Amino acid sequence: MFRPMTDLFKDRAADYDQRPVPQQISEGVTAAMLATVPMGPETRVLDFGAGTGLLCAKIAPHVAHVVAVDISEAMLAKLVEKPELAGKVEVVCQNILERPLGRQVDLVISAMAMHHIEDTGALLRTLHAHLVPGGRLALADLDTEDGTFHPPGVEGVFHTGFDRDAIGALLVDAGFLAPHFTTACTVSRDGRPYSVFLVTAVRA
Ligand SMILES: C[S@@+](CC[C@H](N)C(=O)[O-])C[C@H]1O[C@@H](n2cnc3c(N)ncnc32)[C@H](O)[C@@H]1O
Repeated sequence: MFRPMTDLFKDRAADYDQRPVPQQISEGVTAAMLATVPMGPETRVLDFGAGTGLLCAKIAPHVAHVVAVDISEAMLAKLVEKPELAGKVEVVCQNILERPLGRQVDLVISAMAMHHIEDTGALLRTLHAHLVPGGRLALADLDTEDGTFHPPGVEGVFHTGFDRDAIGALLVDAGFLAPHFTTACTVSRDGRPYSVFLVTAVRA
């Protein structure tokens, strides 16, 4: 199993689920996904950057199975503590950009993980490779922000949100069809608003 040298979420995992902003984002993103993404009891899902499972815990009851992928053992340890996910969510601590899973799913979901990946195009190509033809991507992250969402100097944050047109173009370059954007939610941190987009696209 791939073991990262440093777990950048080690100190954040303990109280992650109690923080209001991740809670609000997972609620907004879940509602947006359930409203726009077809899923059912046969759907096999991969949650990229699943963390403590805030998102996949809400999606799991609507699908067959979820593979929760993350590189933080501390975050995944919180996910496996959730009894309601036992038997429904499989945990994989692996950097799939370096070592792909070697299997494909019907739906890839992700919330607030893309800004932690330096090479966005490489990430989207990796997610594409993990989807069956006709499978769907549903990915949420911050719209372009002024760099204040994270504390200054925080490690492992490579993007201050994303421009929707640029992500749409990267998705098409990666082999996705018909990227469609909605606003999943807007959250407030220290009095400043930050909007979160949901983009859905189909694997060609
Ligand atoms: C801000 S948290 C979001 C967690 C969860 N998706 C949520 O919405 O609550 C970002 C997560 O992305 C994970 N991550 C960062 N780089 C990753 C990579 N290369 N592969 C998988 N997960 C990664 C982090 O370990 C962390 O758990």
